[in-house]
Amino acid sequence: MKVSVIGLGYVGAVTAACLARDGHEVLGIDLDPTKLKLLGEGRAPIVEEGIDEITREAAHSGRLQVTDKLDDRIADYDLIFVCVGTPSAANGSQDLTAVRRVSEQIGAALKGCSGFPVVVLRSTVYPGSTEGVVKPILEEHARGKAGSDFGLCFQPEFLREGSSVKDFYNPPFTVVGTDCPKSQERVRSLFADFPGEFVATGFSAAEMLKLTCNVFHALKISFANEVGRLGRSLGVDSREVMNLVCKDRSLNISPAYLKPGFAYGGSCLPKDLRAMLYLARSSDLELPVMQGVQQTNTLHIQHAADLVMSSGSRKIGMVGLSFKPGTDDLRESPLVTLAETLIGKGYELRIHDPAVNVARLIGSNKRFIEETIPHIEQMLTDDLDEVLEHADVLVVGQGHPGLSPSLAEMGPDAPLIIDLTGLKEEDIGDVEYRGVCW
Ligand SMILES: NC(=O)c1ccc[n+]([C@@H]2O[C@H](COP(=O)([O-])OP(=O)(O)OC[C@H]3O[C@@H](n4cnc5c(N)ncnc54)[C@H](O)[C@@H]3O)[C@@H](O)[C@H]2O)c1
Repeated sequence: MKVSVIGLGYVGAVTAACLARDGHEVLGIDLDPTKLKLLGEGRAPIVEEGIDEITREAAHSGRLQVTDKLDDRIADYDLIFVCVGTPSAANGSQDLTAVRRVSEQIGAALKGCSGFPVVVLRSTVYPGSTEGVVKPILEEHARGKAGSDFGLCFQPEFLREGSSVKDFYNPPFTVVGTDCPKSQERVRSLFADFPGEFVATGFSAAEMLKLTCNVFHALKISFANEVGRLGRSLGVDSREVMNLVCKDRSLNISPAYLKPGFAYGGSCLPKDLRAMLYLARSSDLELPVMQGVQQTNTLHIQHAADLVMSSGSRKIGMVGLSFKPGTDDLRESPLVTLAETLIGKGYELRIHDPAVNVARLIGSNKRFIEETIPHIEQMLTDDLDEVLEHADVLVVGQGHPGLSPSLAEMGPDAPLIIDLTGLKEEDIGDVEYRGVCW
């Protein structure tokens, strides 16, 4: 294919050289005369393992050309990759000046083009930028429409400096965000021989994916380092601890606990987090990541309460009360906290949890209800339909097999659903619906 790469920094220089090595005809474009001179001589403008040889080969083969002119020559290209920088502004926001500037230039270059060049944004950008910033600029300057006169995608780049050539050829997956099937197919065929799954998604999901991955990496590093500081102060080898943590591929290094939903709770997580934080305090250690976990969990419960209160209705039903489905354990259940918040504000609640049958409760749970939350006991019912009849707003804190048929039967009389669990679309039907964080 004919591929143009705009911005020849770490991402662009590797992309341009590797694609040229793979046999594509590549035109690299940058403003920096030093980078252009080096590339023109077959020398890599960055320090990366393997890049010197690939760049030399690419330049000598004639398949890698470079220029500082972003003009209508690129209208002939199959793909136009945008790899310019998106640095932090002084206030932490993302500076999209270079993305805007090259979008204007690409748009002008594509005016009246006869083929269907596909513009692929690879710079890391805020969700909404490809559709909300790049697309209108391209369309204005090209006097054409994305999707019919030219293609447009966002494709996050996952390479890491230090191993970028290896990463370029071994991406964890290839993700393309677009609403244009033809653009998606063009990118798919360029990367057809690359390992990893090809995933097609929307613009914003692909954009947010990249930011989320990097924040997740930063979070993991900081978490491990907090375990390290605490371990050191306690005389425990944190490297051994984290090695063991990583051996659990079922709950630790796995998709478990990584779905947006409701707050955590129960008899173990809050208690053990408190214990760990106490240890840190006793050692005069600041562990803000772990401290922040408590804070964000509380905020999440408040967020759910705000969502219910913003509905304007006062008759609230709740499905689920224990801290997770299939248990009657109410200790530190975030659903109990949510119910108490709403009761405290004078809302009328009816609650059903199939595992929390007041008549059958025994032992510590019975005592917990009687001693700690007696006001909630009166609101509990074993009859789901009673909750549905009462409710103008139904908070679904746990899935329930009877819910979907009952909602379907109620038709337009069904309450507004506030979903904390991630119900499936087919379970909701036409009912008015709000997700807690989606
Ligand atoms: N560096 C990484 O490891 C990495 C990995 C994945 C994604 N990203 C993202 O990719 C993007 C590029 O990152 P980078 O590290 O390669 O940046 P970089 O700063 O190394 O390179 C950007 C290049 O764009 C050029 N440029 C700026 N304005 C231009 C214009 N108007 N016309 C032509 N060229 C122009 C600059 O001269 C520079 O050579 C960023 O959004 C970054 O967040 C970087």
